[in-house]
This record gives sequence, structure tokens and C-alpha cells, in this order.
Amino acid sequence: MRILVIGSGGREHALTWKLRESLSMEEIYCAPGNPGITQEGECLPVDVSQPQVILELARQIKADLTVIGPEAPLVTGVVDEFEKEGLWIVGPTKAAARLEGSKIFAKQFMQRQGIPTGRFVVADSFDAAVKALAGFGLPVVVKADGLAAGKGVVVAKTREEAERALDEFVRQKTLGRAGERVVIEECLTGEEVSFIVLTDGQSVVPLVPTQDHKAVFDNDQGPNTGGMGAYSDDSILDERTRDIILSKIVVPTLAGMAAEGNPFRCFLYFGLMMTAEGAKVLEYNVRLGDPEAQPILMRLRSDLVDLFKGIREGKLAAVEAHWSPNPSVCVVLASRGYPGKPEVGKVITGYEAAEALGGVKVFHAGTTFHERQLFTSGGRVLGVTATGADLAGAIERAYAAVGKIHFDGMHFRRDIGAKGLRRLTRAPERNNLPVRRVSGQCKI
Ligand SMILES: Nc1ncnc2c1ncn2[C@@H]1O[C@H](COP(=O)(O)OP(=O)(O)O)[C@@H](O)[C@H]1O
Ligand SMILES: [Mg+2]
Repeated sequence: MRILVIGSGGREHALTWKLRESLSMEEIYCAPGNPGITQEGECLPVDVSQPQVILELARQIKADLTVIGPEAPLVTGVVDEFEKEGLWIVGPTKAAARLEGSKIFAKQFMQRQGIPTGRFVVADSFDAAVKALAGFGLPVVVKADGLAAGKGVVVAKTREEAERALDEFVRQKTLGRAGERVVIEECLTGEEVSFIVLTDGQSVVPLVPTQDHKAVFDNDQGPNTGGMGAYSDDSILDERTRDIILSKIVVPTLAGMAAEGNPFRCFLYFGLMMTAEGAKVLEYNVRLGDPEAQPILMRLRSDLVDLFKGIREGKLAAVEAHWSPNPSVCVVLASRGYPGKPEVGKVITGYEAAEALGGVKVFHAGTTFHERQLFTSGGRVLGVTATGADLAGAIERAYAAVGKIHFDGMHFRRDIGAKGLRRLTRAPERNNLPVRRVSGQCKI
């Protein structure tokens, strides 16, 4: 089978790395890819922002299976284009991808379907939005409706900060059309958990749970980024909580989408806040998270193509996902200036020595290869991902690998996975959770 992966970040490197292991794989391509991905397959330097271009490329290389990493092509309808032609693609349709493409659609959908989420008001003008602020306490959350690459949400501590965000989004249109309409939302408190499932529209396979680290500095300080690291450990969610999330959030979401005529297939990401009243949905993503994909795929033992076949045939219930019991940790190495404007063009050294440690994979994101040297080319540069017999071991190994790598201005968080360690200290029995790693499957 000829496989094509679309995207160029750490998530797509992890996808290509995992798909290359598949018994069905004969040739694997990635467009546009990155220097790390060239170790796994052939990279094709194509601008993949238009669904038509992706379709043309898949035809040209005779791809049997196309896997989409990022959200933008899904929201603009690449899956519909492929399905019209009878070509196999992994992702939701344009109508289903609105769960991520429009935060207003997602919030109103949750309201219609009784899915737990924060209280909110939708506004389509600056004045209406400012008026709506009066109905909320502080902090308050302001969200642009459309895709904003992580720049469309402000958790405002003061009314002035909220008004400033509204002014930028709605009046100055700093995000273009994505910020023309906004959601004002109550601020929820608790721990965030990333819960991702695979679904064929009839049954659900939950992936192992992960926790992302959004803020740029240790202890969740500083502005939000695309993600500074993530880890996966069974102790993030006990089995009871997971079952509640499945029955109160995941199944109602998928059943609701189907009932409204937009059945959802493939990866669905539930960004959850574990509040004192239980899990509430912050947002949906219609794809794997980045960096969550890296630690998740490191733990996956099943053949990913078999899971994708299960989705295509509507027989996911018959496919089992097997996971390594060992936790995994991904530490993102970022360029000076990130999440603002990053400094690029710095020589990267030590990445081979890092991988030589064993149990370590260095996933590339913002890198470029030039005259036999690797240089930085973006904000998030590398995702150093390691596995270990326990969480402490995985963390130690990931940071040992990080210690081998250097580039000018490199910065990273030193506390990836620390929340997990604290949880285990509070409740050590969680180290031996009887998690049903194999099943956990349920019907919609
Ligand atoms: N209602 C909320 N209460 C508290 N924090 C929130 C809320 N909504 C979003 N956030 C914070 O902002 C981050 C980004 O918001 P999210 O809805 O995930 O949008 P996006 O990922 O598209 O930027 C979340 O990961 C969370 O940390
Ligand atoms: Mg998010």
C-alpha cells in the first residue's frame, strides 16, 4: 500500500514514523514533510493548503491511503473531495469538521445536545460582546469563532484585557474573518486533559489519555503556545472517570452529530477541563493534537493502518487497539522568541546522540537541512519523546536526551509530566491502575 501523510510538524513526523511500521506499508510519502520525516519516507515539497492540490498529489503518486495531520485542509473539505472520487482518506467531512472550524457551532451543538461545557454567549459585534461581558465574572474567556492557530483564545483576568481582545478580534480583525464573531465564555478551573478517540461513527476506540502543557514557562506561566510538551500515562484518568467521559461526553457528541446529519469519523479530540463538577468540554479538535500525537503514537502497539481500515469499513468494533503500559513523555524544544516571532536559522547539534540513548525518538517540526547541517526554521523545533518503565523513568530519559541537544536560543519547559508525578505521590495506587488498555471500546 502507498501511503501519503499531509503536514509538516511533529505530529506528522510521528504519524509517518508509526505508519512506516505497518505491515500494509509498501511506500510512504509526506507532503510537505520536514528533514526528520525524510528518515521515514519520501518528502514531497508541495504547498498543501488547497484540497484540490492534495487530491491531485494523491492521484499523481497513486496513494492508496491519505492521512491528514492538520486541521485546515479538513475544515476546507479535503475529505469530501477525496470521497467524491472514491479515494481513501482519513479524516472527517467538512460538515463534521465544523466542530473545530467554528467554536460557535461547537458551543451551540453542545448546548443542543446537553454536553457539559462552560456557560457562554455568542456575539457578532464589538458592542454586543462588551455588553455580554457584564454577565460573567473574572477571569473571563474570549474566543474567536474560526481557526486561529492557537491565537484566538484569551483568558482575561480583567475587563480591560477582555475588551482589548475583543477590539483586536472583532474591530481590528487581527485574525481576519476568524474573529468577526466571538464566544464569551465562563472561565473553568481544574486540570486539563486531552482525550482523543478514533471512531467509525458506530463505535469508539479511546486512545491513551494525555496532558498537554500549553503555557510557555514552567508551572503553566506565561502566554499560551501551540504546546510545549505532553505526556501519556494511564494514571491521568482512572477507569471510572474515563467511562463517565465516554458516556456523558464522547457518545453524546458522536450520536448528536449523527442525529444532526453530520456523522463524525476518524480522530476526535476532546479538550477537557476536569472541574469540581466533573469533566467539561473546552473545545473539540477534529484531528490528533500536536504534541499529544507524539507520546500517544509512541505507546501504540497495534498497526495503525488496521485501525484506519476498521474506520473505512465501518468495522472498528472488530479491531482492537493495543497499548504499551509504559508512559511516554514529549518535551518540545523551542526557538528564542516563541510563541512570539521566533529567531530561526540556528545550527542544531546533538540530535543523533539524543536518539542513540534508546527509548528515545526525536520528532522534527521547525527544522531545515542545508549543506549537511540541521538548522532551526520555526518556533517549535523538535519534540524529544521518550518512554520508560514508569513516568519518572520516562521523564528522566526525555530530559537526558534534551541535554544532548543544543541550538542558540533553545528553550523548553523543565516540568513536562510533573503534574503526573504529583498525582502519583498523592495516590500511589494509581501506578497500578486496572485500566482496560485493550477494550475501553464502546458503542455509540
Ligand atoms: N472556558 C475556559 N476556562 C478556562 N480556560 C480556558 C477556557 N477555554 C479555553 N481555556 C484555555 O485556553 C486554551 C485554548 O483554548 P481552546 O478552546 O483549546 O482553543 P484553541 O486550542 O483553539 O486555542 C485551553 O487549552 C485552556 O487552557
Ligand atoms: Mg486547544
